[in-house]
Amino acid sequence: MKNPFAYGRVVEGDDYCPRPKLEKLLAGMLSSGQNVVLYGERRVGKTSLAVRAARKRRTVYVDFLACNDAGEVTERIVKAAMKAANHAGLLDTALKAFASLRPKVTIDPDTGAIGATLDTGGSKMTIDSIEEALEKLGELHKKKSIVVILDEFQDVLRIKESKRALARMRSVIQFQGNLPYVFSGSARDKMEMIFSDPDSLFFKSAITLEVAAHSGASFRKFLTRKFAVTKRAIGEGLFEAIEDMGVTVTGDVQQLCWAMWFASEPGETIDVVSIEGALDTIFQIERSKYEDAVLNISATQLKVLGALAVHGGKGIYSSDFKLSSGVTVVGSITKAVQRLEDLRIIYRQRDEYRFANPFFGVWMRTRFA
Ligand SMILES: Nc1ncnc2c1ncn2[C@@H]1O[C@H](COP(=O)(O)OP(=O)(O)OP(=O)(O)O)[C@@H](O)[C@H]1O
Ligand SMILES: [Mg+2]
Repeated sequence: MKNPFAYGRVVEGDDYCPRPKLEKLLAGMLSSGQNVVLYGERRVGKTSLAVRAARKRRTVYVDFLACNDAGEVTERIVKAAMKAANHAGLLDTALKAFASLRPKVTIDPDTGAIGATLDTGGSKMTIDSIEEALEKLGELHKKKSIVVILDEFQDVLRIKESKRALARMRSVIQFQGNLPYVFSGSARDKMEMIFSDPDSLFFKSAITLEVAAHSGASFRKFLTRKFAVTKRAIGEGLFEAIEDMGVTVTGDVQQLCWAMWFASEPGETIDVVSIEGALDTIFQIERSKYEDAVLNISATQLKVLGALAVHGGKGIYSSDFKLSSGVTVVGSITKAVQRLEDLRIIYRQRDEYRFANPFFGVWMRTRFA
């Protein structure tokens, strides 16, 4: 029997638990040609939501994750356009529209997966090429209407002269009228930096949509049904216990359910006791990642991280926290927390610091408590 839980990737179809209100809101904005910025913590379901809300339209889905230069940004836009066009039987139209960028498209004969590289004739691609690729999306849209999702958009900041690149992207997009863009990203501070830039009137005109973790009765019902169709029952208080552990983000809850299912047999009831075994499974898979993280931080940062795991992330300057961490100088705590945030090991939610990966937090707790 196949494990019915999916995590760590975009979910669609049966793996996707509907979020009718958000989907309707977003789909409505897209059909009126409105640009939207999706804000939300990591793994709450931003990408899945965007893909879902746009599923009835031709969607050009571009992922900017870890792109390093203008060439990569351009290539990803073109590749996404070719993929969408191929899917819609419009590859010829797209090839014509993008001809000046000289795309070389390959199609895997077995999987049908599409690849695209740009034949630059040896010259380096620049910000001009990004601008050109976006203009071509506009041309394509005039022929056949599309929706563009620019995911992990904050990673454009990684490229050289990113400010200039963003300004140029902005100036193209603002003249593309009713072509709707979704800008989504998981590094909130960076996304805010881009979209609250005072020079950026256009980005201000994009509507912001907050995506919180999928939770509540409908998500619990969805998870319970997944267990039930694979002949597992749910014990009293299971979901509450998961929440109490600090595992509240959509993808993390699915990961824990995946691990609980993994350790169970048909006919069994999954209850609070099953959580421990599930955590062991997750630790087994992720331990080397945790160990690397611990080895790569300073002794003070490690002490602070340990205290965050044990004491929790509220009141980091309290005497309890100082006692727990053994770091008594306020400036040292601030510096350590900043570094841990930069490393994306923790993030701040209102007045609380939280582990980006809650399972890492639980693992640290077992070692420091
Ligand atoms: N609507 C949903 N129904 C069921 N599970 C979901 C849903 N949305 C998200 N998930 C869970 O969360 C995981 C991450 O989803 P997704 O990649 O869409 O989130 P994200 O916010 O884009 O994450 P990231 O910050 O890593 O880009 C999925 O693999 C799945 O386990
Ligand atoms: Mg995503």
